[in-house]
Amino acid sequence: SLVSLRQLLDHAAEHGYGIPAFNVNNMEQVKAIMEAAAATDSPVILQASAGARKYAGEAFLRHLILAATEAYPQIPVCMHQDHGTSPSINVRAIQSGFSSVMMDGSLKEDGKTPSDWDYNVRVTRQVVDIAHACGVSVEGELGCLGSLETGTAGEEDGVGATGKLDHSQLLTDPNEAAEFVKQTQVDALAIAIGTSHGAYKFTRPPTGDVLAISRVKEIHARIPNTHLVMHGSSSVPQDWLKIINDNGGDLGETYGVPVEEIVEAIKHGVRKVNIDTDLRMASTGAIRKFFNDEPKKFDPRDYFKQTIKSMSGICKARYEAFGSAGNA
Ligand code: G3H
Ligand code: 13P
Ligand code: NA
Ligand code: ZN
Repeated sequence: SLVSLRQLLDHAAEHGYGIPAFNVNNMEQVKAIMEAAAATDSPVILQASAGARKYAGEAFLRHLILAATEAYPQIPVCMHQDHGTSPSINVRAIQSGFSSVMMDGSLKEDGKTPSDWDYNVRVTRQVVDIAHACGVSVEGELGCLGSLETGTAGEEDGVGATGKLDHSQLLTDPNEAAEFVKQTQVDALAIAIGTSHGAYKFTRPPTGDVLAISRVKEIHARIPNTHLVMHGSSSVPQDWLKIINDNGGDLGETYGVPVEEIVEAIKHGVRKVNIDTDLRMASTGAIRKFFNDEPKKFDPRDYFKQTIKSMSGICKARYEAFGSAGNA
């Protein structure tokens, strides 16, 4: 059944676990996530970006997610708008039936230029007023996702700030977080701690100077009753990276957020953990390998089946590691 983000995260906080929020664009991703959730008895957050709605089309995306609730009636599912960059995108999502939205006012409406405090508070508060009147939850964001190694949003374009970011923008301030939550009344707060979107987060396995789990602890100590959200939380699995690179891909050497660091953050208030890149990598790795191994096959179901299997393996591992398994 469709539930709000607030319902899921309140339960997660009460029982001290985190829930991975996977991005979805197509049927295979939805199936992989739901199969894994059913196998581990985990609640589910399916999130769709504006780009996902553009790719699949509003009706297909909505029905894919509703199909998940119909096929798995025992699993609670939150249908979440990821990175709504304007109030109007979020209102459109609410109209479309989403049970949760993200007003990302950390960037201006172009999704690239860092915004100021007043803008962020104003648009977020506006969305909270509308969403709460409809029983829909709201995630806000304070601080800019980006690399403490390079001072940029990361190598991927599309999602995130362009240009140089300074240290104060890349690490959410605990006192400002408290004031932001008070002024906006968001249900969950995305914070910046050195992670970035995409496959190129860290040039070496991250240490505390570039992945500030300590900042999570400081923010949680200041606002213990606020559900924290980590974006850019793919772990960039080295086994899938190798399969991709061994089968004609060229992603080079790169590192993500180690699962054990996320588990540590979950002990300090992180309840929603956004993951997109890991499923993209598992999917691409499975297809590249299949094409290399099975040159005579051409039924798309044969290789899409492999992507469901590979993505589902990652989902299961995250449900178990984050502790949401057994809590559906
Ligand atoms: O926030 C970023 C997610 O990975 C969504 O990416 O805008 O390419 O769908 P996308
Ligand atoms: P990754 O690129 O690390 O998977 O992050 C996804 C995300 O934060 C979606 O909002
Ligand atoms: Na989100
Ligand atoms: Zn994100």
